[in-house]
Amino acid sequence: MFHRAATPALLAGLLLAAGSSVAASSQASLTSSGIKGCDALIAAGLESQLIFPTDATTYEDRVSSWWSASSRLRPWCIVQPRNTDEVSSAVKALSEAGAGSFAVRSGGHSHWAGGSNIQNGVTIDLGLMNATTYDPATGVVSLQPAPRWGDVFETLEGYGVAVSGGRDANVGVGGFLVGGGNSYYSGRHGFGCDGVVNAEVVLADGSVVSANSSTNRKLWKALKGGIGNFGIVTRFDMQAFPAGPLWGGSRASAKSYTSEVAQAVVNFTDGYENNPEAAFLINFTYQPTISSEVVIAQVLVDTDGVENPPAFAEIQEIPELFNDIKVRTMSGIASDYVLPSGYYNAWFTLTMKNDVRVVEKAAELNEQLVSDLLEVMSSDDLVTQCLFQPLPKFFADIGVEKGGNVLGMDEVEGNSLLWLLTITGTTPEHEAVIHTKGAAMKAALDEYAESIDAKVPLLYVNYADPSQDPLKSYGTRNLRFMEKVAAKYDPDGLFQRRVPGSFRLSRVE
Ligand SMILES: Cc1cc2nc3c(=O)[nH]c(=O)nc-3n(C[C@H](O)[C@H](O)[C@H](O)COP(=O)(O)OP(=O)(O)OC[C@H]3O[C@@H](n4cnc5c(N)ncnc54)[C@H](O)[C@@H]3O)c2cc1C
Ligand SMILES: *[C@@H]1O[C@H](CO)[C@@H](O)[C@H](O)[C@H]1NC(C)=O
Ligand SMILES: *[C@@H]1O[C@H](CO)[C@@H](O)[C@H](O)[C@H]1NC(C)=O
Ligand SMILES: *[C@@H]1O[C@H](CO)[C@@H](O)[C@H](O)[C@H]1NC(C)=O
Ligand SMILES: *[C@@H]1O[C@H](CO)[C@@H](O)[C@H](O)[C@H]1NC(C)=O
Repeated sequence: MFHRAATPALLAGLLLAAGSSVAASSQASLTSSGIKGCDALIAAGLESQLIFPTDATTYEDRVSSWWSASSRLRPWCIVQPRNTDEVSSAVKALSEAGAGSFAVRSGGHSHWAGGSNIQNGVTIDLGLMNATTYDPATGVVSLQPAPRWGDVFETLEGYGVAVSGGRDANVGVGGFLVGGGNSYYSGRHGFGCDGVVNAEVVLADGSVVSANSSTNRKLWKALKGGIGNFGIVTRFDMQAFPAGPLWGGSRASAKSYTSEVAQAVVNFTDGYENNPEAAFLINFTYQPTISSEVVIAQVLVDTDGVENPPAFAEIQEIPELFNDIKVRTMSGIASDYVLPSGYYNAWFTLTMKNDVRVVEKAAELNEQLVSDLLEVMSSDDLVTQCLFQPLPKFFADIGVEKGGNVLGMDEVEGNSLLWLLTITGTTPEHEAVIHTKGAAMKAALDEYAESIDAKVPLLYVNYADPSQDPLKSYGTRNLRFMEKVAAKYDPDGLFQRRVPGSFRLSRVE
């Protein structure tokens, strides 16, 4: 298992070592950077697409483009392919170099240090591949790996369509889709990955294949949740659906209404199948700019644009502190709710049965967590979110209908709640503290869920901490399936052995 290896102080020391070795040779025309992986990319003709630490501002700007301060590692070099051919050349070059680690990045929203970046190695940064192309004749939108969801929605709005994309405008397409992708549209259309009808994939040997329901069918299924274990996706073709302005936004209630809000989210989840156009999440959040106390934020969306639909009658009866819910576009709501970048993050996830008691317990543990953290952190430095999202059984049914994914949701009985804890701080020292305290809270909630028979083993990979084992949580059947697909499409294990970050089949415990 990869551990969030080093402290940033240690990382800075490592960078000095890497920086000094390239300094002498980073000239207009390189033949050697002195670093094997970077040299192999130069030899493959990718020199113009390489960024080194010596490329001062360009390099620093790119490093700080990772959303989480925790993931702003400093690779030996960053390669930015412009098209599929260049991705293929890069993969081939790194493969033939025989050694050296690398990472793969699309939108750079992975919250943890090794999620999509690397310290001692090369980062393949797909950021320049950010086109969105819609074909009205087929209703299929072709997405390169690194547009931001806000731009995708905006383009599609011009045609009156949408796809199950992210709820935050800046999240990238690539990671979201290979990890699943929970969307405001999931009730009608499933997770983002379930809308992928075809993927173009660069395999470990540099070959480019299509994966869809008739060609490379198993690879297609494994890509939906298998997070980069089989290759690099260079294009996602998604089936779009008609969509117009939605009604949505957030409101908040005082924490004294915890039981009422918990009951409302549980009722909503149990009745969700009758209101698939709706989306709902609750968020026990400590945010000093809003309140000195934890408040219960609630995100309410009706993707048909119906105002105050009956699905939300119960929650809307609970008194509110504020409310900004209105009719707006999907791209509008996505850019109105952008989570700020540049903080150190600790995220943990669990899945539990749809039961009021787990929500109440989480609220109680969250209260304790915030007060513990405020003893060691200044209130200005801390933001927490303790979120619950409905994960009803019928989401899994949609996935199965659309060809299946490997997320394991279809093996769960009944309706579940997806829990996410996010804690942010402003320094590396905070990161250590919030990680330790967050892990303890997660363990306590997990133990409680188990004690009342409400534990569901699933861990959502896009939210997981590196100490968690999401691929294992998909269940033995999916794990064995993914291992077979990896063995077929990457027989030498390039994406297993040479990618020390992300979540890898080879490191499942
Ligand atoms: C502010 C914020 C809001 C979020 N909102 C949502 C939400 O509404 N719903 C939800 O489900 N999740 C959400 N997430 C989680 C999000 O889905 C993940 O962070 C996701 O990984 C982001 O995708 P990315 O391309 O930006 O990530 P990156 O950090 O670039 O990549 C993440 C992982 O995917 C792999 N990967 C990326 N691109 C490819 C590719 N083309 N081929 C193969 N592997 C690839 C990377 O190697 C890495 O392991 C949110 C995260 C943040 C930070
Ligand atoms: C795509 O990337 C290029 C290069 O980084 C950038 O100039 C452009 O604004 C991006 N386009 C979109 C839609 O984000
Ligand atoms: C599946 O891939 C094959 C081979 O590239 C292609 O001909 C076919 O159109 C693809 N199907 C879909 C649905 O994209
Ligand atoms: C949680 O609530 C806070 C306060 O309203 C908000 O800033 C944040 O965006 C919310 N998070 C999500 C994922 O909705
Ligand atoms: C929510 O569910 C509970 C328990 O089943 C029930 O007593 C209550 O009436 C429901 N509330 C609404 C508004 O449906």
